[in-house]
Amino acid sequence: MNPVSAPSLTALPKAALVIDGKAASKGIIVRVAEEARALIASGVKPGLAVVLVGEDPASQVYVGAKGRAAVDCGFYSVQHDLSRDTSEAELLALVHRLNADPAVHGILVQLPLPKAINSARILEAIAPHKDVDGFHPINVGLASIGEMKRALLPCTPSGAMILIEQACAALGQTLSGKEAVIIGRSNIVGKPMAQLLLAQNCTVTIAHSRTRDLPSVARRADILVAAVGQPELVRGDWIAEGAIVIDVGVNRIAAEGLNAAGKPKTRLVGDVAYAEASARAGAITPVPGGVGPMTIAMLMANTLIAACRANGRAEPKF
Ligand code: GUN
Repeated sequence: MNPVSAPSLTALPKAALVIDGKAASKGIIVRVAEEARALIASGVKPGLAVVLVGEDPASQVYVGAKGRAAVDCGFYSVQHDLSRDTSEAELLALVHRLNADPAVHGILVQLPLPKAINSARILEAIAPHKDVDGFHPINVGLASIGEMKRALLPCTPSGAMILIEQACAALGQTLSGKEAVIIGRSNIVGKPMAQLLLAQNCTVTIAHSRTRDLPSVARRADILVAAVGQPELVRGDWIAEGAIVIDVGVNRIAAEGLNAAGKPKTRLVGDVAYAEASARAGAITPVPGGVGPMTIAMLMANTLIAACRANGRAEPKF
């Protein structure tokens, strides 16, 4: 064959690496279960208490999944279902009981809470060493001064961080010195994500709804994290060639046609326009199947870590 007429491989579009959050989360769960077996054999059974106030169907699904994952990991798992008219004082009393219960190493109060309850007051009542959500100001403070090893870290950003590290490794890159842009400044994702990336020596920008020229800020990113809850806000031309794109958004939007029950179909999309972005990204998380599954896996990891700390045992690193 005439080598001159051979197609140029460099001219072909490069496919982005699809970051498989389901596989990564399974890996974490398997490790948690292994570590839990050893801990249980030595006399300590990790325990997770999940509290649900009201009957919000989405919260019921999330809470059920958390409880099942805890059982799968071999933990003691208890769920407290309270009616939607539970008072703040009643919920505080339950939190205090769980704080004092030696069988419970992790406490999670599912959000959002009914409007009549002050969420901050509830989250601050959870003992910091049992705060497996990482939302207590003590844990937020430890993360902000870089004391990651003493803090309990919020599950979604710490799961996203594992995916970023895996993507960097798969692309043969190092995280240190990278330009990271986070779109979204929530306490649950945006701010702790910034702390975690900073702790890995990234140069971090937090962009938000008031940021001027968001597309050009996003284009600076070697690592772009979208966590705003706006369907497909981030377009393909916001992505720098080869960037690692982490989509934390889970948005349900209308789809074409009717479902089996005759209702209009819906589908899940992220905050990133996936098809456009994957034509430019080096690696990208899908929705669903990206960051989502990591949240529950990291909740299990935090519960195990809390149980180790409570009993003076060495804790595994995830
Ligand atoms: N509601 C939605 N996500 C979360 C979460 O990660 N933790 C809690 N406690 N509530 C939530």
